[in-house]
Amino acid sequence: MTPPPEIRNICCIGAGYVGGPTMAVIADRCPQIQINVVDLNESRIAAWNEKDLSKLPVYEPGLDEVVARARGRNLYFSTEVNAAISTADMIFISVNTPTKTKGLGSGQASDLRWVEACARQVALHAQGHTIVVEKSTLPVRTAETIQAILQAAQQPSTNKPQRSFVVLSNPEFLAEGTAISDLESPDRVLIGGEDDEAINALASIYNQWVPTKKILRTNLWSSELSKLTANAFLAQRISSINSIAAICEVTGGDVREVSMAIGADSRIGKKFLNSGPGFGGSCFKKDILNLVYLCKHFGLPEVADYWQNVVTLNTWQQTRIAQLIVKRLFGTVTGKRLAIFGFAFKADTNDTREAPAINIALELLEEGAQLAIYDPQVKSNQIEIDLQLPATSCPDIKAGQTRAALNGEGTWWISNSVEEAATGSDAILILTEWDAFKNLNWNNIAPKMRQPAWVFDTRSVVNPQEVRSTGLKLWRVGDGAS
Ligand code: UDX
Ligand code: ADP
Repeated sequence: MTPPPEIRNICCIGAGYVGGPTMAVIADRCPQIQINVVDLNESRIAAWNEKDLSKLPVYEPGLDEVVARARGRNLYFSTEVNAAISTADMIFISVNTPTKTKGLGSGQASDLRWVEACARQVALHAQGHTIVVEKSTLPVRTAETIQAILQAAQQPSTNKPQRSFVVLSNPEFLAEGTAISDLESPDRVLIGGEDDEAINALASIYNQWVPTKKILRTNLWSSELSKLTANAFLAQRISSINSIAAICEVTGGDVREVSMAIGADSRIGKKFLNSGPGFGGSCFKKDILNLVYLCKHFGLPEVADYWQNVVTLNTWQQTRIAQLIVKRLFGTVTGKRLAIFGFAFKADTNDTREAPAINIALELLEEGAQLAIYDPQVKSNQIEIDLQLPATSCPDIKAGQTRAALNGEGTWWISNSVEEAATGSDAILILTEWDAFKNLNWNNIAPKMRQPAWVFDTRSVVNPQEVRSTGLKLWRVGDGAS
């Protein structure tokens, strides 16, 4: 076997939740490779270059230490996209690919304008032989688009030296909140492509810390499809267990017990069986909708409907929770103060993309609720964007109902602690499973609330006896006894 071409210089386009942590770990493990992470977003790059590591744009446990070791040594963050492309032997495309909101495939297909723009930039500025790696989650056959653009650039021209390109697919399977440990010891690394030399070059980078048997090789299309399929299967487990939670609630079952019982079957396995407020995050919904679009395009409507239902059930779970909250609060939340504990789509991240908290909060705001939101990592300006509603300041509880509350207008504000959010509230809604919510002092919190007061635990984090012993009423997801 010919040794793979040595990769000395990597450029990663896109410094987001995938590009930033992934390149930080590669730089940490491969000090001989210079890595330039570039992004058009100046404030994001400035945040990656922050001296104070608590201000990095992505919150991930362990990320600060990895960045501290590699940044300035062989890891650089900059907005100089073209310069970084021109010096790279290998370019990772790690840009955003949200679901299209208008035009052909609206609501289902991915918007590939950023990927296409990247491919064109690479076509213009790359030099010599360049391996282009798809890292973003992409619809199947996107590599074809990238290849077509790069092939056009490969044509010999009189005024440019000859260039050549190879496109590989290398989907990222990291989960937010555990990104660093997922990257440091992945279950597998998947490389799709047709060019053995390029595949070997990429494999030899991962091989610095990942055992060879965990580096899987497939063709390009299998690799792209595996990413969508993995996310669809994981999301399907969550919708399945959430559907069973609803049955538990009406039959007297307990979904935690059902999860434990079925998870003990080694064919099923115990992971991803936690019932909750529905899945969020930037990948699951987008990838399933991509799959649905692909199935429709290729004349497989039954398969499309099958996967569509995973998303439909997820949205239903969020609406169901918002509605049962209203019902238990005597059928109305208008003017009532509700405390929301957790806004991120899962614990240990500051990411709110597709967070269940968004839909649940919007439904309650529509009903005229006054929401006191507390999250250990999510900032007020992000919630403003998500709810498309500016925050108000925290009303003085002693001054009685605000004008907005009397008019039935939903409002929200940010709280700086669980105690502050709970004060004067009729209910606490736990929407993210932050560790900090697992050991709350309910004896301290209960007297601060307006009685009769409720706790709605959508993440199964509280100890039911402890909560009930303070006189609070408790609803837990999938608990037929509450
Ligand atoms: C997911 C995939 O796990 C990862 O492999 C892929 O690269 C990107 O998409 P991520 O979205 O970051 O990762 O987080 P994940 O841990 O998968 O959680 C997704 C959502 O499912 C979260 O909202 C989480 O709260 C929810 N979830 C997860 C449950 O409701 N129950 C579970 O048992 C597990
Ligand atoms: P992900 O979760 O997939 O990492 P993000 O939205 O967090 O997605 O990050 C994608 C990043 O890609 C954004 O910071 C965005 O500014 C950047 N980006 C998009 N298009 C380009 C481009 N053509 N050149 C450089 N950066 C880009």
